[in-house]
Amino acid sequence: MPVIGTGTFGSDRYGPAEVSRAVAAAIDRGYRLIDCASVYGNEPEIGEVLSEAIAGGVPRGELFVMSKVWNDAHSPEAAIESVRASLRDLRLDYLDAVFIHWPFPNHHAPFASTEDRDPHARPYAHAAFMAVWRALESLVDEGVVRHLGTSNMTIPKLRLVLRDARIAPSLNEMELHPTFQQPELFRFCLDHDIQPVGYSPLGSPSRPARDRTEADISDIDDPVIRSIAEARGVHPVSVCLQWAISRGQIPIPFAVKPDQIRSNLDAATAPPLTPEEIEALRGVDRNNRLIKGQVFLWPGAGSYLDLWDVDGTIPGWQGYGSPAL
Ligand SMILES: NC(=O)c1ccc[n+]([C@@H]2O[C@H](COP(=O)([O-])OP(=O)(O)OC[C@H]3O[C@@H](n4cnc5c(N)ncnc54)[C@H](OP(=O)(O)O)[C@@H]3O)[C@@H](O)[C@H]2O)c1
Repeated sequence: MPVIGTGTFGSDRYGPAEVSRAVAAAIDRGYRLIDCASVYGNEPEIGEVLSEAIAGGVPRGELFVMSKVWNDAHSPEAAIESVRASLRDLRLDYLDAVFIHWPFPNHHAPFASTEDRDPHARPYAHAAFMAVWRALESLVDEGVVRHLGTSNMTIPKLRLVLRDARIAPSLNEMELHPTFQQPELFRFCLDHDIQPVGYSPLGSPSRPARDRTEADISDIDDPVIRSIAEARGVHPVSVCLQWAISRGQIPIPFAVKPDQIRSNLDAATAPPLTPEEIEALRGVDRNNRLIKGQVFLWPGAGSYLDLWDVDGTIPGWQGYGSPAL
């Protein structure tokens, strides 16, 4: 797999045309890993770009294209239909990886606020998750998906999936940036041959206001990151990316601006961080989760912490210690 990829979630700010132009520029520049998702609403436009790139001489085998099954497609039939739609939209015969985007089924209108709740949302139910997983395994058997991945998972949930999956996850997409290093989950993935893919690798500095809380820390304003960047004569985001690559996770920064697309890729080939810099960056971790997922909570849930199995157990309908069924 490439050591760095490009994100494609334009959020409220960048529409499909702009994101697909950015993907074209990224491929032109040399990126080969593209992180897509059905819910980002831009796979048809990205598909056009991919088919032009392949027709223009980029070997399909060089590209690593990933997509995700959204929370409103958590039944075997809907998950299969979602992947087939992504294949059609992206104009590909196969996807290099497919993820289950979040381990919770729910449905929300676009731009839902963090206060909005879907009355039909429910907590993690392992049997239901595995039914979706088995449907995706059948797509691997069919040859239209190469690898399966989980996303927004935790160690307790991954343990169950590893116990029951016929095809184990090869990838886990998780929030990773210097102020949110998730060391236990990161280690767990490596120990189980699961490649961590780091989302929001720059600390998502331009995420919408509704996804911000007062307690959030900005990676690019961290004094240690800033001083390493200054000493190297680069932007603090380059330090975030170099940290990610040196640690062995695959960052997928999002960028539409040509300078950013270029400098993010340059970070992948910059001189490696020194042991002293790596050690200093280890100390920057502040358990600073930015993508909290509140909107996915179910009736009866407590805070967003119910999504993340913080005491090592998987909460049910009434939070920690209650059953899920
Ligand atoms: N699996 C999941 O649940 C999940 C969740 C979140 C994200 N993701 C994936 O991860 C990707 C990246 O995450 P993200 O978009 O949240 O955050 P991010 O990559 O940490 O931040 C992206 C923002 O950083 C700024 N930026 C990019 N390159 C820069 C540079 N060289 N210098 C200065 N600023 C720079 C840009 O802001 P401006 O445009 O304002 O300049 C850009 O919009 C997404 O696109 C998506 O593919 C997955």
